[in-house]
Amino acid sequence: MDTNPRSWAVDRPVTSPFAHPSGVLGRLAGRFMLRTNKQDDVLDVLDVRPGDQVLEVGNGPGGLVRLLTARTGAALVRGVDPSPAMRDVATKVNRRAVRDGRVALGLGTAERTGLTDLSVDRVVSVNNVAIWPDLEAGLRELHRVVRPGGTVVIAWHGGVSPGRIARDLRLPDDKLARIEAALKKIFVEVTRRELVTLDVFRAVR
Ligand SMILES: C[S@@+](CC[C@H](N)C(=O)[O-])C[C@H]1O[C@@H](n2cnc3c(N)ncnc32)[C@H](O)[C@@H]1O
Repeated sequence: MDTNPRSWAVDRPVTSPFAHPSGVLGRLAGRFMLRTNKQDDVLDVLDVRPGDQVLEVGNGPGGLVRLLTARTGAALVRGVDPSPAMRDVATKVNRRAVRDGRVALGLGTAERTGLTDLSVDRVVSVNNVAIWPDLEAGLRELHRVVRPGGTVVIAWHGGVSPGRIARDLRLPDDKLARIEAALKKIFVEVTRRELVTLDVFRAVR
């Protein structure tokens, strides 16, 4: 029996260990993502300022969390992911920053981050929006936790030069349009652009 939630984008559960990593396969998928997912250009779009509090939803193995602490002046980087296996891998990958209190990793989802209202300046989600069970509920939750003037960045496989995996997983235009329309309903400023291997939305609260 499949216990994974249905994805709003494909209207069926996604069973891949990359989407719902658990056990040995999930940890292997995490290590693979850590090596292959290059997310430096997401940092430019996110534009973190010194002292910002940042939330990554669906942090997976924690590669972007590591970049955020190494390359930005964020005061605190929070990560939430529903997978205990990914929380453990990301904790190992960011061991020192976790110990120093610059990174806080926990279990959660885009729909239920567990954070208080208006508690972060930046929110980022990379390669998980199409796995969420409910797009609108996820976006409402991100809107709830980000401060006025803060930004939310949502990225999914695609971009101007996608590799084979990103090409296979990229969303059709109607699904990208649905993300854009849903963002426009609750955020004041929404832009869409293509990075090298990612389609990216940036929304201001
Ligand atoms: C393909 S991985 C991407 C991980 C990481 N962001 C990266 O790019 O390397 C997808 C991640 O989304 C997480 N995930 C699954 N459902 C989610 C949800 N509803 N909200 C947030 N994250 C979710 C999975 O546990 C997994 O770690």
